[in-house]
Amino acid sequence: MHSVKPRILTGDTPTGRLHLGHWVGSVENRVALQDDYDCYFIIANIHAFTTRMDRPAEIRQSVMDIATDYLAAGIDPKRSTMFIQSEIPAIAELTFFFSMLLPYPRVMRNPTIKDEIRDKGLGENYPFGFLLYAVGQTADILAFRPEIVPVGEDQIPHLEMTREVARKFNQLYCGVDSHTEDKDYLAKGGLFPIVDVKLGRAKRLIGTGAPTETGNLLKMSKSLNNAIFLSDDADTLTKKIMGMYTDPKRLKASDPGTIENNPLWVFHDTFNPDLAWVAEAKERYQQGKIGDVECKRKLIDVLENVIGPIRARRETYANDPGQVLQILKEGTAKANQVAQETLVLAKKAMRQDYF
Ligand code: TRP
Repeated sequence: MHSVKPRILTGDTPTGRLHLGHWVGSVENRVALQDDYDCYFIIANIHAFTTRMDRPAEIRQSVMDIATDYLAAGIDPKRSTMFIQSEIPAIAELTFFFSMLLPYPRVMRNPTIKDEIRDKGLGENYPFGFLLYAVGQTADILAFRPEIVPVGEDQIPHLEMTREVARKFNQLYCGVDSHTEDKDYLAKGGLFPIVDVKLGRAKRLIGTGAPTETGNLLKMSKSLNNAIFLSDDADTLTKKIMGMYTDPKRLKASDPGTIENNPLWVFHDTFNPDLAWVAEAKERYQQGKIGDVECKRKLIDVLENVIGPIRARRETYANDPGQVLQILKEGTAKANQVAQETLVLAKKAMRQDYF
């Protein structure tokens, strides 16, 4: 049977195992979209080298961890294609051509790049390849000419650059008029679609830690040590929730609990399907009539319902890395066919099809 499902491309940089932030930001979405879309999931190992070029073994391990997490989370290798970025030469080739379509200051203006330079403390000595990764991401995506890219909010600037590259390419090399509406580029002869973003239901999940001095709750992130991983065992989950920051003022009987900026309630709002319980408990919490411990116990049950089935499925794959590698190998072969076909068409459009 010939697949006519619209295509999706998204993925992750392998810098650690997947956590709940990945789940609500994108992974949950991907699992749900498998029925209706032809899904491609890229493990962006080249991008991991932008900040860890000195730790290749760690990157390799992380590639395996992410693939194992994908399978555990419910990504079905029979329906979806997961693959390794560095094994797709067409992506590297397209990156070089696409880099000509983006002025250097345009890449430097990308807010995600700026944030990363600041948050990761990269100073002024980040490698040239760090900037190039943003261009590379446009190639990761466009090599697959997908209709939709499901990502978290922090990836929107990269998607905007991808749309700019696609417009520019289509205008310069496919003769598409620059006044064309985004949705019409393909119909007007363009090679690359102007992709749509699909955000997860929680655009950005906070971690289990206290707010910063300015009152902000920080994003869930492995490096901030505030993450709950999809692979955490039941004990670890319990410890993390029991130890998570809530409202310190609650220790005083005179000062009932606050809901705002309180991770306990952010997590309930994000994960607890029992909306009536949450609404009532919040009210009682604000009146000092329900304790942290009871609300945390409830949250542990709720999160166990998310993570438990993932953990159970993970077991099979974690004990059989050979099977995971085989899935990646087959996925990569399939991804290469698509990306190679795109590269041939792109070179033809650029009049660089010589032989
Ligand atoms: N930059 C993304 C992240 O850090 C990972 C990624 C690489 C990606 N290439 C992609 C996401 C292409 C979507 C599409 O999460």
